[in-house]
Amino acid sequence: MSDDTDREVYLDHHASTPVDERVLEAMEPYFTEHFANPASKANHSYGHTAHSRMEQAREQVADAIGARSGGEPVAKSIIFTSGATESDNFAVRGLANYASEENIGSHIITSEIEHEAIIEPCKMLEDDGFEVTYLPVDAYGQVDPEAVADAIREDTFLVSIMAANNEIGTINPIGEIGSITDEYENLWFHTDAVQAIGAVDIDVQEMGIDLMSISGHKIYGPKGIGALYIDLKTKGKLEPLLVGGGHESGKRSGTPNVPGIVGLAKALELAVENRQERVEHVQELRDLLWERLSSEIDHVVRNGHPTERLPNNLNVSFPNVNVRELVRMSLTNHGVMAALGSACSSGEDTSHVLEAITDDDDRIEGAVRFGLGKDLTEEDIEYAADAIVEEVNLTESIFG
Ligand SMILES: Cc1ncc(COP(=O)(O)O)c(C=O)c1O
Repeated sequence: MSDDTDREVYLDHHASTPVDERVLEAMEPYFTEHFANPASKANHSYGHTAHSRMEQAREQVADAIGARSGGEPVAKSIIFTSGATESDNFAVRGLANYASEENIGSHIITSEIEHEAIIEPCKMLEDDGFEVTYLPVDAYGQVDPEAVADAIREDTFLVSIMAANNEIGTINPIGEIGSITDEYENLWFHTDAVQAIGAVDIDVQEMGIDLMSISGHKIYGPKGIGALYIDLKTKGKLEPLLVGGGHESGKRSGTPNVPGIVGLAKALELAVENRQERVEHVQELRDLLWERLSSEIDHVVRNGHPTERLPNNLNVSFPNVNVRELVRMSLTNHGVMAALGSACSSGEDTSHVLEAITDDDDRIEGAVRFGLGKDLTEEDIEYAADAIVEEVNLTESIFG
């Protein structure tokens, strides 16, 4: 049994990941030695150094996501932000402002399972007179490209569908959706690739993606840094959310977070370079965890797609188990850290994602999310499985 009291097993990598040592090493000089403001590039060599490194990072990010022209990365298509919440808001609200000013349209298509960073700006826009179609998903949480095609209207200017879901790990057919939206003028396709990048092969040009959000802290990079990819034809159209000194070619004012930018670029480079190896490793561990839980616990259900899912995601429902207690006791007694699937974001009582895939309240309320990470071992997973099985048996007998 799992009684190793000092041990801790972190299974919440969808919420955040530790910064990779190599990322930290790349960032460090930009806190201390090369600390200058890149905007001072014309004034002194310190500013020039910070600026050139930032521009190199921009190229690295463009290259990693396939934003290229004539084989060269299109650095100008990357705008650095404070994270994916800002990138998502910027994409949706920035394009909405443009569409409204130019009288291009007032209709947005998104899905029921998007992150709140998309849902909330969409709701704000509804208050301002925009119309939003929230597409339902199938029982695995997937968006049907045909449903996207059917929902497109003359006044639709934006389709925003996430590449992979942060709760149940389902991967969407974004390449297919991109090829549908590509057929229309004045219709842009945005994808939130926060969870997918590094796990799924993403090439913005091949997939017909016009805008894409990414975040540093989900890929072993730092918190508080993200990027929005915008293809150059669209960039001029996006209205900035933050105005001031005109940084990021006037699209996002504010002194750039140079260490964060360097860290994001390094983390992304490592994620893409080591993708195959990382994917195989976490997938093996994820399958081991599912095998243990499904064979040792009665009535456990896996949420999300059986194959089209993030390699590090396991979301399961333990019907008839008080999962709040289960997650708490797994942590207190065994140091095993997982997330409640039913209240995945702060402030949310029930998961809108689980509600989108099932009507079964027991399944919705009994969901737990395990997010695996590259540094975990088989031993960690065996230990965590022992702990969860033990605690399920205990909580079941008390609360079941
Ligand atoms: C799918 C998805 N989009 C957006 C975000 C927000 O990212 P950030 O923490 O960088 O603001 C998250 C974070 O949980 C996420 O999982």
